[in-house]
Amino acid sequence: SLEGYDHYMLKEIFEQPEALKNAIRGRLDEENATAIFGGLNLTPQQLRSVNRIILTGCGTSWHSALVGEYLLEEFARIPVEVEYASELRYRNPPLESDTIVFGITQSGETADTLAALREMKRKGHRTLALCNVVGSSIAQNADGGVYLHAGPEIGVASTKAYTSQCIVLALLTLYFGRLRHLSFEAGKQMIEEIKRVPAAVQEALSCDQQVREVAAKYQSATNFLYLGRQYNFPTALEGALKLKEISYIHAEGYPAAEMKHGPIALVDEQTPSVFIIPRGTVYDKVMSNMEEVHARGGPIIAITSHDDNRITEIAEDVIRIPEVPEFLQPIVSVVPLQLLSYHIALARGCDVDKPRNLAKSVTVE
Ligand code: F6R
Repeated sequence: SLEGYDHYMLKEIFEQPEALKNAIRGRLDEENATAIFGGLNLTPQQLRSVNRIILTGCGTSWHSALVGEYLLEEFARIPVEVEYASELRYRNPPLESDTIVFGITQSGETADTLAALREMKRKGHRTLALCNVVGSSIAQNADGGVYLHAGPEIGVASTKAYTSQCIVLALLTLYFGRLRHLSFEAGKQMIEEIKRVPAAVQEALSCDQQVREVAAKYQSATNFLYLGRQYNFPTALEGALKLKEISYIHAEGYPAAEMKHGPIALVDEQTPSVFIIPRGTVYDKVMSNMEEVHARGGPIIAITSHDDNRITEIAEDVIRIPEVPEFLQPIVSVVPLQLLSYHIALARGCDVDKPRNLAKSVTVE
């Protein structure tokens, strides 16, 4: 039931702190500074010898795979490939035998993801599912996996499943990292930081009213740009997808610095740019990308954790998010973008929970 919310999408956005707690529950091993997974069905020795990971999925799940790539490569030092499931299923990439394949999927029924995993399994690779729906086709087909425990996601636009996928990927990174190069101290620190995420997401949700006002301002725009770098490049893609699918406004997500290689030609007074610019290693870089958009007259909506006068000067709207370490930022910074797409869709009279042409699970190829 909607429990007082107007739409499932809004309810599910607000359920994220709880969903994240559920994804973390029982999975932290503080004594050993690592994570615990019951269903991988591989021994630590087998997992220790993995030398490549393929992450595959579709849509929003493909975006969390990108976050997973940044995480696993930085902290576990394992080479990761992210593949669209619809492409992977018909490709024949050369893969060494100690490659494992993770299918990431909310529904566990996406036809392309299922087919990609089957093809990889046929080739003799271990396949694992990172899945929300218990007992789904993909969960049953994989050799093992991890459930998200996000609870049912009914709105067509994926929200809490996405952030749950990201936190589970962070936990997997901790686990794989601790099998390899990550020290006890570094593992402990990651655990402390992961534990703080649900509260940070709770705090991020308090921007709802402000985001509604921003949405009212831009509801008639026909194009949006979403720009972010490093861990927030996938956030930019996800923000743009959310806007496209439920408000039917064209939006492009880009790594912020790629903008000057083409998309900057789109910038004008009618095209808002959403910058995801929390404090971190690429802050100054994203700032200069933002200056470029400003210089060309593009309105800016900035999502930031930083108190920087320059942002306030050049951005029309500044939406504050709490500060978290960079590897966890995608989980927090996507929240205002989910809300922005929700409020814009609502203002345009769109059917938020059942957008046109879309189904909750895509069981055809
Ligand atoms: C976007 C969305 C879709 C799904 C995609 C994969 O909000 O919901 O892009 O993410 O169809 O679905 P799952 O994760 O069920 O495999």
